[in-house]
Amino acid sequence: MKVKNICCIGAGYVGGPTMSVIAQKCHEIKVTVVDINEERIAQWNDKNTDLLPIYEPGLAEVVEEARGRNLFFSTDVDGAIDEADMIFISVNTPTKTYGIGKGMAADLKYIELCARQIARVAKSDKIVVEKSTLPVRTAAALKSILHYTGNGVNFHILSNPEFLAEGTAIQDLLEGDRVLIGGERDTQESRDAMQALVDVYAHWMKPDQILTTNVWSSELSKLTANAFLAQRVSSINAMSELCEVTDADVSEVARAVGTDSRIGPKFLKASVGFGGSCFQKDILNLVYIAKSYGLKEVADYWEQVIIMNDHQKRRFARNIVQTLFNTVSGKKIAFLGWAFKKDTNDTRESAAIYVADDLLEEKAEIAVFDPKVKPHQMQTDLNFLNTRSQDENAEMLTATDNYYDACKDAHAIAVLTEWDEFKDYDWKKIYDNMRKPAFVFDGRNILNGEDLEKIGFIYRGIGK
Ligand code: UDX
Ligand code: ADP
Repeated sequence: MKVKNICCIGAGYVGGPTMSVIAQKCHEIKVTVVDINEERIAQWNDKNTDLLPIYEPGLAEVVEEARGRNLFFSTDVDGAIDEADMIFISVNTPTKTYGIGKGMAADLKYIELCARQIARVAKSDKIVVEKSTLPVRTAAALKSILHYTGNGVNFHILSNPEFLAEGTAIQDLLEGDRVLIGGERDTQESRDAMQALVDVYAHWMKPDQILTTNVWSSELSKLTANAFLAQRVSSINAMSELCEVTDADVSEVARAVGTDSRIGPKFLKASVGFGGSCFQKDILNLVYIAKSYGLKEVADYWEQVIIMNDHQKRRFARNIVQTLFNTVSGKKIAFLGWAFKKDTNDTRESAAIYVADDLLEEKAEIAVFDPKVKPHQMQTDLNFLNTRSQDENAEMLTATDNYYDACKDAHAIAVLTEWDEFKDYDWKKIYDNMRKPAFVFDGRNILNGEDLEKIGFIYRGIGK
């Protein structure tokens, strides 16, 4: 079984970069990425690749190379499903905001709608690949919908969770540690379906990097990997608080711990808290699954990672208020960064949103500069929390298009994202135009505190 035509439903952070790389590496496969969001598709098709809907280093070059050759972006979902022999589902699976499992379980509404659409349109056999992160056993639900509502054609369901991290997605896709493909292995046909996807990745990955498992192991591995990574950030963040009340320095502790090869140096950077579309969602998912099986201790254990993360965000905001003489009312606070990490314009679950919300409750005025996040996104993120009216949010939090205006006349600067360019700013000039005493709260420990203190700033890092 050789795949000639791939369709990917969902042109977001996962679908867009993944399909662009598949198209770049597999010239003989036609790859069509479809989305119901017309504006998003128009942006993907824009000649000016600076206007792509998502920012990711290296993405524009890949799109430029493959677009129009064997990579296409379209809103014709039915047409692309009909043509394809392999369909990736990369639609969003946000945490449920209503009903059973509210605030914890993944909302599978979009996945189910996709499955029903595939079933309605497909007139020939299809391999359906779940790419979105899904709770364990979703493949079974997909299979059932496709089987009962389809036109009698065969569907093979595979799980192919993505392990790419935003900001390094293209590099992760090209040089990732591994890809994971879960599928049934009971019939020759199902083994062939799995091999067809292995062959796609084999265009650029080594055979021993392509792991095959059963569907459920694959689904569960994704949640487990994210839970383990997030737990490390929360563990070091827990130590950061202890460091602050003792004479220890969290970066030194992390270095000492990370040089133990059994633990390793990655994911030990203390921060204002982890964000992103995956960590919180996947852990809550895991907690929900554990709870549904009555495994209270397992659920409590993983939930604690979320509790620690919420604490870290709130602690950062509280620290700012306390240090600014217990009041930030009417004071201007400059935020450097709004994205949940550097090199992405994604803001989902970004710590900045929660820190801003806490400070706005204290009546601060916030001016934000982020190199890649659009101002309306900041308002959307804040309004989503429903803490105050949209007008109040718009009045109290403003976005600026350069760092200098954000920091002018501010009482304090808070670094929320670790964008590299922040390190190279003219900090002397920033200082001269701020209110005094001028404070810097470095939520990412990226600035040189000693240099800033020489200029005159009062510098506060995390865990220092
Ligand atoms: C994550 C997983 O890494 C990836 O494998 C999965 O497919 C999707 O979820 P991503 O959300 O893009 O990727 O970001 P990641 O680099 O994992 O960072 C998550 C959050 O943790 C960010 O807010 C980051 O700033 C924070 N973090 C990370 C720290 O605070 N300290 C660290 O040492 C590492
Ligand atoms: P992720 O980070 O998982 O890629 P995104 O929200 O960035 O999530 O992207 C998911 C995309 O899926 C969105 O652009 C959304 O419009 C699209 N989408 C959701 N449901 C459907 C559907 N039924 N058909 C086509 N596209 C869909």
